[in-house]
Amino acid sequence: MDLTGKTAVVTGGSRGIGRAICVELARRGANVVLCARSVEGAARETADLCGSNVIVVPCNVADAADVKNLMETAREAFGRIDILVNNAGITRDGLLMRMKEEDFDAVIATNLKGAFLCMKEVSGVMMRQRYGRIVNISSVVGIHGNAGQMNYAASKAGVIGMTKSMARELGSRGVTVNAVAPGFIDTDMTAALSEKTKGKMEEQIPLKRIGAPEDVAKAVAFLVSDEASYITGQVLCVDGGMGI
Ligand code: NAI
Repeated sequence: MDLTGKTAVVTGGSRGIGRAICVELARRGANVVLCARSVEGAARETADLCGSNVIVVPCNVADAADVKNLMETAREAFGRIDILVNNAGITRDGLLMRMKEEDFDAVIATNLKGAFLCMKEVSGVMMRQRYGRIVNISSVVGIHGNAGQMNYAASKAGVIGMTKSMARELGSRGVTVNAVAPGFIDTDMTAALSEKTKGKMEEQIPLKRIGAPEDVAKAVAFLVSDEASYITGQVLCVDGGMGI
């Protein structure tokens, strides 16, 4: 799965799953455009792990002007955009009765609208190239639902609908669009859960372990490679069998 000469834009690339994706794609030879809300700290550390063919661009994916600037900067730096990984995501958990309207809006704005804005900006570029690979990071919660995560589940289910629609729209131009649905992955997003809860979840996972960011990154690397050129509109669960 050689990605030499390919340019990949990865949103939310500073830490967690996004960091692992940036490192994995860079390891396979891709130029990496790391989109982060802040270009210092974690984003800089990730860039160092990626090597020399990487740029860090500040961007809030929910902001159309930021996203436009992100894609223009990527093209100025590397000439083309072959790969887009929509990874940036947030949670604002709570039971529906207590969920604030701003918590619903914030999650939809980043997780769903952010993916829309990024796909809208790159689709023209990829269609003209007659080549592109888009991977949207969804979640098993978008497939099965989860109490206390109605906003997040809606956003991640929406990402799957978007993925299938875009696969249909862009297929004739050589652009594949797929989703990866991680299960329970060990990152800052899940760090707040108690050891007891984590233990219970591990018990329910057929492979008996919580996933690592690298497990997700390897699936993404496959989907953006030429080896996956006849795969589009699919949702690949990387969940240790949790959703069976
Ligand atoms: P994380 O919280 O460690 O990292 C998320 C990254 O997205 C951070 O770098 C953050 O700065 C960035 N981000 C958030 N809002 C942004 C915005 N508006 N604009 C640009 N960047 C923004 O989370 P993690 O666990 O690495 O999650 C990555 C993706 O995987 C998310 O889409 C998440 O929903 C999804 N996911 C994670 C699972 C897990 O168990 N950790 C399970 C299923 C899906």
